[in-house]
Amino acid sequence: MFDRVRDVSESRGVDRGQGVRDRPGVRGKRLLVTGGTRGLGEQIVRLLAAEGARVATCARTASDLEALRGSLSADDSGRLFTQPLDVTEPERLENFVAASAQRFGGLDGVVACAGGSRGRSLELADAEDWAATWELNVGHTARLVRAAVPYLRTAGGGSVVVISSISGWKPGPNAQYGSAKSAQIHLAASLARELGPDGIRVNAVSPGSMLIPGRRWDRMRTEEPEAFAAFTRAELPSGGPVAPHEVARVVAFLLSDWSSGISGANLPVDRAQNAPSPDGY
Ligand SMILES: NC(=O)c1ccc[n+]([C@@H]2O[C@H](COP(=O)([O-])OP(=O)(O)OC[C@H]3O[C@@H](n4cnc5c(N)ncnc54)[C@H](OP(=O)(O)O)[C@@H]3O)[C@@H](O)[C@H]2O)c1
Repeated sequence: MFDRVRDVSESRGVDRGQGVRDRPGVRGKRLLVTGGTRGLGEQIVRLLAAEGARVATCARTASDLEALRGSLSADDSGRLFTQPLDVTEPERLENFVAASAQRFGGLDGVVACAGGSRGRSLELADAEDWAATWELNVGHTARLVRAAVPYLRTAGGGSVVVISSISGWKPGPNAQYGSAKSAQIHLAASLARELGPDGIRVNAVSPGSMLIPGRRWDRMRTEEPEAFAAFTRAELPSGGPVAPHEVARVVAFLLSDWSSGISGANLPVDRAQNAPSPDGY
């Protein structure tokens, strides 16, 4: 009787709970995160390691990678692989992907997290600022995914998470940044279609303004409390910016099998933030 019920449930795609116990989050997964020593990337690495994943990460500053390792528990740091490199150097990035896969015996997922902006407004930014911003956000993402695909395919599929931003569709100053973040959302949607037949899911996560100790929003909170309060009142209906660890949880969910039905999506994690910047528009 029970078997018949289970057969019917499975044929209708009904999860009766058994599958939930059989599918842990990211425990044992082999994952790679670019830009893992500060801000969002650091929170992602810490969460994935604490959840029992094997994690590879990179940044340009070797001492920050060592500090990260030193701050983890012995168990978590034993599952961490790091390399100092600049993700805009194609060969270094490709070698890092290959070295991570070799160390872990394969890859199950990658997160393109390193990103940022160079230059200022249109008339103050030059061609190099535009090219550098594009390379850091879009070029590195495309090359990372390209380098990882053979390993994800060998693993029978995997999950790619691209860290974009609400600046990818909300107008704000420094258009070179917003347009690069917009291109990342397009990459996720298009690559999800292209790589879907290999069982590879690709999604974008778009944080709102994150409150990171010592960074812009944190400085504004302490140095310009009235302006911070006014911006929060007007643009952040939930009372404040999102914390990086909250964004990291969404990334971990997308890397896990819990999100097997999601591909090609762009998930804002922004507490319903409106304007992306206090600097105008
Ligand atoms: N901060 C926000 O409020 C916010 C909002 C929305 C979206 N985002 C997006 O979220 C992502 C993370 O932002 P974040 O503010 O957390 O970053 P962050 O604090 O500036 O940290 C960046 C990390 O990436 C590394 N990195 C930077 N450039 C690199 C390069 N060329 N090669 C290798 N590693 C590099 C940094 O280490 P090294 O400097 O040592 O290389 C560091 O580990 C970015 O894609 C950003 O666009 C941020």
